[in-house]
Amino acid sequence: MIYNNKNIFKCSLTSAAIEVLNTPDPDEKVKLSFLISQNWDNGSLLKIDNVIPPAYPARPSYPQLIDPKKVARRRINTAVPGRVALLHALAHIELNAIDLAWDIIARFSSQELPIQFFTDWIKVAADEAKHFSILSNRLYEFDKKYGDLEAHDGLWDSAWATRHDLAARLAIVPLVLEARGLDVTPKMMTKLRNAGDIESADILEIIYNDEIQHVKTGKVWFDFICASRGVLPEKTWQNYVSEFFKGNLKPPFNKIARDSAGIPVSWYNSKINS
Ligand SMILES: [Fe+2]
Ligand SMILES: [Fe+2]
Repeated sequence: MIYNNKNIFKCSLTSAAIEVLNTPDPDEKVKLSFLISQNWDNGSLLKIDNVIPPAYPARPSYPQLIDPKKVARRRINTAVPGRVALLHALAHIELNAIDLAWDIIARFSSQELPIQFFTDWIKVAADEAKHFSILSNRLYEFDKKYGDLEAHDGLWDSAWATRHDLAARLAIVPLVLEARGLDVTPKMMTKLRNAGDIESADILEIIYNDEIQHVKTGKVWFDFICASRGVLPEKTWQNYVSEFFKGNLKPPFNKIARDSAGIPVSWYNSKINS
């Protein structure tokens, strides 16, 4: 279904979120994300009801999704194919991030959450839609498009593993995966700049600054849930990481960005030393 302003008014926020998840076309996901965000901001879309999101979001026929171990490692060098592969991999991550933001809105809507929770995650969803869009446009400048290369098949695993618990979802998606993005992005930006690809580096810088806010949003709501349950955030986060994150937290950490996002050093330092 193609939404427009007329029929989205009749819809609840949560059913609109489901519509994004069930939309396979990336450009439609982006348009719909912006439309919902605008309608939320101008007060036209108010209702939040209980919905059941799909187990997996709809995806386009291309790119072909393959085992993560078989995806070529991202290499950044002066050659165009290396940069195209990086932009394509990042676009794939951002497409997944659009769905993750709408999934958190839809999946946990039955819990008693302040309206600000929804406002914050709609902002994240709109940012992720913007990120996908600018990366996709940059690929066009190399005569490529999203879907031309193979992509990672494992990005929804964490979402599925944490579907039963909002605190677990926040502990892993923003506070491990997006925080990891903060650690690695500055190096990518430097390599792109050194390769003379200032346009791509500038795109990564936009994404980087927004992602600090996404991690911060994750931390605020993780703390909120921990306070409502009467548990200590640091220990709770570390327990969730042990239970739901396959692999280890990898230093070096970007302390400056993590500080800006409100993640204390003790959280991740004691986790790698444990
Ligand atoms: Fe993003
Ligand atoms: Fe994000």
